Amino acid sequence: MRILALGDIVGLETVEFLRNNLWNFRKDNKIDFVIANGENVNDIFGLGLDEAKILLDCGIDVITTGNHVWGRRDIYDFLDSTENVIRPVNYPSGAPGSGYTIVNADGFKILCINVLGTVFMDSLTSPFDAVDTVLVREKGNYDIALLDVHAEATSEKLAMGYHFDGRITAVFGTHTHVQTADERVLPAGSGYITDLGMTGPKDGILGVDKDTVLYRFLTKMPKRYTVAQGNIEAQGAIFDIEPFAKKTLSVKRVKF
Ligand SMILES: [Fe+2]
Ligand SMILES: [Fe+2]
Repeated sequence: MRILALGDIVGLETVEFLRNNLWNFRKDNKIDFVIANGENVNDIFGLGLDEAKILLDCGIDVITTGNHVWGRRDIYDFLDSTENVIRPVNYPSGAPGSGYTIVNADGFKILCINVLGTVFMDSLTSPFDAVDTVLVREKGNYDIALLDVHAEATSEKLAMGYHFDGRITAVFGTHTHVQTADERVLPAGSGYITDLGMTGPKDGILGVDKDTVLYRFLTKMPKRYTVAQGNIEAQGAIFDIEPFAKKTLSVKRVKF
């Protein structure tokens, strides 16, 4: 089984790019399942309801999110009703939506989990404990598991990789918007990459208009972020998985 994971999708132009390109990429590369982080789709902050539905129509099976998940209120009810968009599992139980989902693909049940790191981020409950709890609760209900660790610190993401090595089939990081070159299969068979990168405009700064970011750095004055324009690129990784053994055979970084 071949799974494509895409880094944070930034901006509406990128939604259009995926609508035009993702199905072809899926077909050309024989991808069985696509998971993508959608926390920055609408003006960097959040995922709107209409855009979530378009992304689910254009070849993404499950959308994960992150610290910007609450940016758009119109997604809240959808988070409660859909099985295809999840928010970090370690938010308090009173928050809308679920931190994981189990969906069918290619005859297998795929458990997808999203978790937020706590180093240099909001002080949520332990991401390690939160994901462990899901694995215990859903034991026997899934064939393979995927984990999006939405976190700032490379150390925390790699620690998650080792902690869940052999128990989660693929562990990948998101949030920094910069693709790392450390893709590998960990000793017990989990596929791993510290950050998938960004699916968005390459010429900005992490997807934001570069002049806006420069103004903020150079003046320390506030200025509203706007999405950079043009030159869209999708970044992520392809995990080749042996679903019966629940192991990753290889991980390959991709850009298109
Ligand atoms: Fe992001
Ligand atoms: Fe983020």
